[in-house]
Amino acid sequence: MVKTDSVVKKAKRYLVLFLVTFWLSCSSDSEEIKNDVDDNATVTKVEASFEHTISEEDPYSILLNNTTESDSDFSAVWDFGTGGDKVLDMEGLEEVRYEKTGEYTITLEVTNTAGTSTATKKIMVDQRYGVCNINGCEELSQNGLKEETDTFAVGVITQSYRINEGGNHTQVLKKEFNSLTSEYEMKMNIMHPSPNSYDFSAADAIVDFAVANDMFVHGHALIWHDATPDWVENFSGTDAEFEKMVEEYITTTMTRYKGKVRSWDVVNEAVDESAGNPLRNSIFRQRMGDDYIKKCFQFARNADPDAILFYNDFNIAANSGKRAAIFNLIDDLSELVDGVGAEMHISIDYPSTEDIQAVVDATVSRGLKIHFSELDIRTNPENDKNVSSLSIEKAAQQKAKFMEVVRIYNTVPLENKFGITVWGLRDNESWLIDFFGVPEWPLLFDENYNKKQAYDGFLEGLQ
Ligand code: XIL
Repeated sequence: MVKTDSVVKKAKRYLVLFLVTFWLSCSSDSEEIKNDVDDNATVTKVEASFEHTISEEDPYSILLNNTTESDSDFSAVWDFGTGGDKVLDMEGLEEVRYEKTGEYTITLEVTNTAGTSTATKKIMVDQRYGVCNINGCEELSQNGLKEETDTFAVGVITQSYRINEGGNHTQVLKKEFNSLTSEYEMKMNIMHPSPNSYDFSAADAIVDFAVANDMFVHGHALIWHDATPDWVENFSGTDAEFEKMVEEYITTTMTRYKGKVRSWDVVNEAVDESAGNPLRNSIFRQRMGDDYIKKCFQFARNADPDAILFYNDFNIAANSGKRAAIFNLIDDLSELVDGVGAEMHISIDYPSTEDIQAVVDATVSRGLKIHFSELDIRTNPENDKNVSSLSIEKAAQQKAKFMEVVRIYNTVPLENKFGITVWGLRDNESWLIDFFGVPEWPLLFDENYNKKQAYDGFLEGLQ
C-alpha cells in the first residue's frame, strides 16, 4: 500500500512538472507568434524596380540593374522574355543576349515577408539595331545610300509593274539609288518577242522613270543565252541573215535609248565554266562563229558611241580559271569594251576578299571600268530548307560581307569606278529563292522595306 501511494505521488509530481513545462513551452510559442505579427506590422511590401542599359559592345545584349530598395530581406526572380524566344543569361550580373528578333517582356519579381510585386518592361529586338525601345529604333542616317558616295553610282534592279504601281517601291528607289537596271524586261525575249515586232513598253516605263528621277540606267542585257526568244533559237534564215538580225536588234534597241541609257551589258555570261572554260555554245556562237562577241560589241559601238559597254559574267571572283578565260576574252575585245561587269552573286563566307580584289586588280590593270553588278549575298548557302528566319548571327555576317564588298569597291581608282548594282530591293523579291528553291534573305531590305544590318554594312563600306 505504502509502495502504491508513493508511486501515485511520484506520478502526480511528474504530471505537474509535465503540465508546467507544457504550459511554459506553449506560452513561449505564442510569444513568438505575437512578435511575428508585430514585425509584419512594420515591414512594407517590397516594390520591384529595375533599369536596363544596352551593352556598348553588343547591341543585342542588355545589362539589367535591379534597383529595388527595401529595408527588409527580399528575394528576386527575373524573367527575360516571357513568350519570347530563347535567351542566354549569365550568372550574377544580369546580362542578357537576345538571339532572335521580336518583342520581349522582361519581368522582375521580388518577394519579402509582406508580399510579392513585379516590375515589367517591354523591349524590341530588331535585326538591324539590336535592342530598341518598344516604340521603335532610332534611324542612323536620314540620307539615302546614293548620297553617301559621289564617286560611283548605287544601283538596283526593278520591274515595270512595280514602277507603274508606285508606292513604297518607287519611294525607296528614289531615296536610296541613282541607277536603275531592269531585272528581266530589257532582255531580248521581252524586247524582241517575234521576228517582226519589238515590245519596249516595259523598258520604256523603267527608263522614263529613271530619267524623270535623275537616275542612270544600266541596260541589261542585249545578248544572253538564257533570255533568247524561241524564234531566234530556231531561226529559219541563213547565218548571214541571223547576223543581220542581231545587228538590227542591237542597233534598234540602243538607238531608242541613246542619251537615256548610260551603259549596256552587251554580251552576258558567254563563258561556260563547266567545260574547261570555252565559250558557251549558244545559238549566237553557233550562227555567228567564235568571234560573235566581238561582232556584237562592234554593233553596239556603232549604234551608240557614247554608251559604256560592258561584258558581264558570274563567278568571276570565285572561279579563278573562269576569271582567266573572261579576261582573255576581254583582251580580245580590246577597244570595243569599256568595262567588266562582275556579277556579285556571292555568299556570307565566299568568295574570299583576295579573290574579289583579284577581279578588281585585273580590271584596273587593263584601264577598264569595273561594275559590281548583280550584288546579293546569300545567308543560306547550305541550302537549309527548314530555316524560317534570318538569324541575328547570319544577318551580322551578311552585314560584314556587304561592308567588305563595298569597301573593296570604294578603293578602286576614280577613273575605273562605275557603280554597284544590288540585285533586288527586298529579300522576298530575290530571284535566288526560286533559283535555289530554299529560303533566302540576300538583300538590303526586308519584306517590309525595313533596312537590314546589310544596309548598314553597305553604308559603312562607303565610309
Ligand atoms: C535573273 C532575274 O533575276 C530573274 O528574274 C529572271 O527570271 C532570270 O534572270 N545573271 C544575270 C541576270 O545576268 O540577268 C539574272 O537575272 C541572274 C543571273
